[in-house]
Amino acid sequence: MPDPITATLKNYRALPKVELHRHLEGTLRLDTMLDIAGQHGITIPADILRLSTLVQMQEEENFSFQTFLSKFNTLRLFYRSPEVIHRITREAIEDAAKDNVKYMELRFTPVALSRAERFPLHDVMDWVITSAQEAAQKYGVIVKLIASVNRHESHELAEQVAWLAAEHKSRGIVAMDLAGNEAEFKSEPFYGVFKEARQAGLHVTIHAGEWGPAANVREAIEELGAERIGHGVRILEDDYVTQLAKERGTAFEVCVTSNYQSGVVPALGLHPLPAMLERGLNITLNTDDPSISRITLSHEYHIACDNLGFSEDTLKQRILAAAQAAFLPDAERERLIGRLKQDLKL
Ligand code: ADE
Ligand code: ZN
Repeated sequence: MPDPITATLKNYRALPKVELHRHLEGTLRLDTMLDIAGQHGITIPADILRLSTLVQMQEEENFSFQTFLSKFNTLRLFYRSPEVIHRITREAIEDAAKDNVKYMELRFTPVALSRAERFPLHDVMDWVITSAQEAAQKYGVIVKLIASVNRHESHELAEQVAWLAAEHKSRGIVAMDLAGNEAEFKSEPFYGVFKEARQAGLHVTIHAGEWGPAANVREAIEELGAERIGHGVRILEDDYVTQLAKERGTAFEVCVTSNYQSGVVPALGLHPLPAMLERGLNITLNTDDPSISRITLSHEYHIACDNLGFSEDTLKQRILAAAQAAFLPDAERERLIGRLKQDLKL
């Protein structure tokens, strides 16, 4: 008899998927990290289990945003060469393809990738773009890129990233994202950066209402021009903001397991996703940092159905909603939706 969990996951794996919110820096394979550590003399535990405690959430640890963010402190030791960046980008796309992701917007943080070796930001951007294009072709996934900046970094650095992102629009960079520690850093210093990004024709998605209040979602929409919100799961705490997002059709990039592991919700089954949907919000399902969370998008679809009561039809409609919210030109978006409708038998 097949293991029932594996058999169920197989059914979710068979669904064609759309991923709008996945961080490159949160997708590194453990065995790849060991390889890189060996090649570059990085001193980390040499066995996978001990390494895992540093870079992945463990069942027994305190689920908080501090613990979650602390994993990136180890992860950022690995970005040591163009080859490393090429490999992690390729593997991120290969892993998505294995999970039957058909369309993915992969976000990456040029400042974080450049720091260990002081690589110029434009080189890092070029390496990620080139590797993503090659891998997208090789594995048959449509991939677009989002340039992220972290809240604790300066707005001057963010501005450099925005300029570079705008320069690389023709090579698949579609948007800018504000990420990082929402609990302790404000978004106000970045108003100007995101205004310029929008004027340069980039889309905008903002992490908000995850580790901060619903008011941050309002600020993301009204001041930063966010068309989509990363997480936004605290929005129901404020009726005005809920109504605002509903009227605008703002898409929410919800990442259930990530929210549980970073202490936003006390249990998977208590996630506000069903209530958000009930209120008419435009929600989509995503992974955030699959290797930190030890999940796939199939796993998240499974949780939506098993822990949060989604029907198969609701799940399929949310896959289409994600395609509808993709940062693609109209004709390409319609092509993607048409293909998904066919594959999902809708
Ligand atoms: N960077 C990577 N994962 C993140 C998250 N869940 N929130 C904010 N920034 C992040
Ligand atoms: Zn995120």
